[in-house]
Amino acid sequence: MNRIFSGIQPTGNLHLGNYLGAIRNWVGLQESFESIYCIVDLHAVTLPQDPAELRHNVREVTAGLVAAGIDAERCIVFAQSAVPGHSELAWLLGCLTPLGWLNRMTQFKEKAGKRRDAAGLGLYAYPVLMAADILVYQATHVPVGDDQKQHLELSRDIAGAFNRRFGVDFFPLPEPQIFGAATRVMSLRDGSQKMSKSDASDYSRINMTDDADAIALKIRKARTDPDPLPGTPEGLAGRAEAINLVGIYAALSGGTEDEVCAKYAGEMFSTFKADLVELAVSVLGPIGAEMQRLKGDPGYIDRILRDGAERAGAIASRTLAEVHAIMGLAA
Ligand code: TYM
Repeated sequence: MNRIFSGIQPTGNLHLGNYLGAIRNWVGLQESFESIYCIVDLHAVTLPQDPAELRHNVREVTAGLVAAGIDAERCIVFAQSAVPGHSELAWLLGCLTPLGWLNRMTQFKEKAGKRRDAAGLGLYAYPVLMAADILVYQATHVPVGDDQKQHLELSRDIAGAFNRRFGVDFFPLPEPQIFGAATRVMSLRDGSQKMSKSDASDYSRINMTDDADAIALKIRKARTDPDPLPGTPEGLAGRAEAINLVGIYAALSGGTEDEVCAKYAGEMFSTFKADLVELAVSVLGPIGAEMQRLKGDPGYIDRILRDGAERAGAIASRTLAEVHAIMGLAA
């Protein structure tokens, strides 16, 4: 049986990268798979968080998922910290994970920066908790943006290490699902940086709650080059910002980069950007409005999270009971 699991951090604004790289695909997959979507607050606290803001952001992200089309009755939507099995399995898997594997993780290197010795153990063990998130549900498929690829490869390695160590075929090796255009949406200000919640400049990203004016302003100000659009994607080589905008257009329109280039061949970016604004507003506008509406009903959001935690917790408990039996831990 196939089961989907994916996670998203409740740290600040949901943005177009989260939407195109992950959430939009989650919405499509819920039709054909049993799907579990988790707001990963335990991952968020690997860096300092304000407690009130963290709680607020968990609700906000939940509202974002529902507004984007996640059906919380069909799927399981919940906060990671409500299901203790994630932390417990992370400990057990951490005992099987060689430091050498963690030392290769580029995200840790980026987030820890030069002061590696000052970085927390949680930040270092972050990918082990990710593996636990997935494996505690014995999930087979994990839809993510391209930036999570390395972590998913590690999850597969950890699942394999467990199975080999105990001579079992217990954890499936989870398959990353990275598909569609814009699997890595870049900053609107710098085409070499990914669009991210933590970028100091709000002009670098389009937030899912931005209104039409904000979207228009950000796209108009987005960095480009003076050349017109080429007739084929090959003509975008070496033009990071142009590649990004064409990718965003393709993803939002449900088309390909080839189709976008064919449509705008020879046009200037000013023309293209005006159309991109219209397209982005038509896709994100209704989602942002629905998020606003849901934020006015926190009781509804809390019910979704409570119900999701109950259903997720039942699956996680069963997995941990079996893991205890396999490892010789207390029944
Ligand atoms: P997070 O919260 O950074 O991002 C959530 C999802 O959005 C995708 N994403 C992007 N996709 C394209 N372009 C971008 N600029 C962009 N920025 C973010 C991410 O790839 C992700 O799919 N560690 C994970 C959360 C996590 C998780 C898991 C994911 C925790 N446990 C288990 C899958 C399975 C994270 O920080 O995602």
